[in-house]
Amino acid sequence: MDQFAVTFLPDNITVRVAAGTSIMEAANQAGLPLKSTCGGAGTCGRCAIKVQEGKVEVRGGHLPARLREEGYSLACQTMVMGDAIIAIPPESRLGRHQVLLQDKGRLQDSLTDLLGSYPLDPACSVASLVLPEPTLTENTSDASRLLATLRKEKGLEGQLDLVFLQELPDSLRQANWQVDVTLAAGSNRLIRITPLGETRAFGLAIDLGTTTVVVSLLDLRSGERVMRKGSYNRQAVYGDDVISRIIHATSNEGGLEELRQAALATINDLITAILTSGGIDPAEVTAATIAGNTTMTHLLLGINPRYLRLQPYIPAAAELPVLKAAEVGLKINPLAPVQIFPAVASYVGGDIVSGALFTRIASSEELTLFIDIGTNGEMVLGNSDWLISCACSAGPAFEGSGITCGMRAMEGAIEGVSIDPDTLEVELEVIGGGRPSGICGSGLIDCLAKLRRAGIIDRTGNFQEVATPRLRTTDEGPEFVLAWATQSSTQRDIVLTAADIKNLIRSKGAVFAGIQSLLKTVSLEIDAIERIIIAGGFGNYLHIPNAVEIGLLPDLPPEKYIFAGNTSLKGAELALLSQPAWQESLELARRMTYLELSAGNLFMEEFVSALFLPHTRLELFPSVG
Ligand code: FES
Repeated sequence: MDQFAVTFLPDNITVRVAAGTSIMEAANQAGLPLKSTCGGAGTCGRCAIKVQEGKVEVRGGHLPARLREEGYSLACQTMVMGDAIIAIPPESRLGRHQVLLQDKGRLQDSLTDLLGSYPLDPACSVASLVLPEPTLTENTSDASRLLATLRKEKGLEGQLDLVFLQELPDSLRQANWQVDVTLAAGSNRLIRITPLGETRAFGLAIDLGTTTVVVSLLDLRSGERVMRKGSYNRQAVYGDDVISRIIHATSNEGGLEELRQAALATINDLITAILTSGGIDPAEVTAATIAGNTTMTHLLLGINPRYLRLQPYIPAAAELPVLKAAEVGLKINPLAPVQIFPAVASYVGGDIVSGALFTRIASSEELTLFIDIGTNGEMVLGNSDWLISCACSAGPAFEGSGITCGMRAMEGAIEGVSIDPDTLEVELEVIGGGRPSGICGSGLIDCLAKLRRAGIIDRTGNFQEVATPRLRTTDEGPEFVLAWATQSSTQRDIVLTAADIKNLIRSKGAVFAGIQSLLKTVSLEIDAIERIIIAGGFGNYLHIPNAVEIGLLPDLPPEKYIFAGNTSLKGAELALLSQPAWQESLELARRMTYLELSAGNLFMEEFVSALFLPHTRLELFPSVG
């Protein structure tokens, strides 16, 4: 098949692709992933690009007429038919490696804080052994000799794999029968054999998110963190959320394998980058722990995810056996044990269990609400006596998705908005301090609160008749201009439309209704909550009083809120370093009750009541004027 060169600007990166390849796919190959809420169906309009030169076939899709007239087309609907030069506007980029690795969490990040009262007892350990040399009269096999010494010296019953046996004869003799063996905790499977005293052992904690993936390398012998790296999940070209990924995996031939390979490539590239810069051999990485939501876990393992999204929403497996790295496809020691966090249900996954482990919800008497506001708004309520969880489909609005000028919290995102009550003029806070290119979740929350305070929208979110040139009506309806084209880095006005506001109100309503549903199920009121832990990068820029003012979060004093950062990753680090912690995560998942919000009317009634700013029941928000 003919191959053509596609060059992307302004990066000036060229890839060669077959005729008929979409620009979306070519951009992905170039390492320049584009936004794709609809997974390439041509309906979300997020992947707009401009063909500067060359032969392409444009198949259509939904793109505003204004952009079409300016020469834009949709990357997912534009096929390469010859050499081409393509310009990618900043607003269509998913961004590159701008993944939160450190956070402003108040929960600290040192080894002592990570382990707390858990002992350092990692997922694999190293045993030093001196074996008796074989003779003509004492001639048992190498394997029996090794296992007998292990039993005698350490009291352990070792388990052998073929890969290990293949290396064993030379390894023993080259080490002059004085060896270190690395063993998997629990199973005592032998992972690696090395000359005595030279053995390092590293482990990986992996946060496999729908949007981002973070890999953390830890020294298992000292417990110290060596390095963290993160990037976007390459599955993003198949859709922003888990539902579009499940649809891709189950309605396209080879779709599941494409998604599996995309996740693996993301993880393995991060692993390679970490190991290369640390001068570490992949064989030295002898354990891994993975925390991901239920869909991500299914897709990574190539398990059919179809029934996750069909009533009654049943995962293929909630608890998985400890696998080997080679089975999963990780580019580390092939025998390394891989612990994958158990799920509670289809939409409360291992990432939430990992977060619950790290934040010690289950070991505190304080009634805690743990909440991870992403696409699904997962939350856990409880204490050391009981735990109940749910997931509400909040949608990705607070991640900037599905919002006209929405973007993630990264450089160029509007994170704060002030509106002068007299002039209705706007002042913006932009991450990085430069020109804005869009608005992120915290900016959207701020904006809603300030629009309402300034009387520009009412409690239902509808625009009011106010005298400002910033409020205007287009073919698509009314919108408010936050930044004029001359002030923005995209040379286009940055706006918040009436449809965006409805979308945001639905999202915040879903989160609050989820909280209320949990509380009502256990017959408690908001005041009973003693602390609220906000997980994820979302909390990093969140201004609590504004989130309360729009009715996203309960009206409780700010000191009850704790930002815990990437709890999924930190829980994975903890379970990698401490077997008692890993065992506790299995227990946690087993004893966490799951409340299915689509069963019964409770959630829907709460949701409808929450579709106001802040709420129809103002008594729930006494501090909001
Ligand atoms: Fe191209 Fe949605 S329109 S990914």
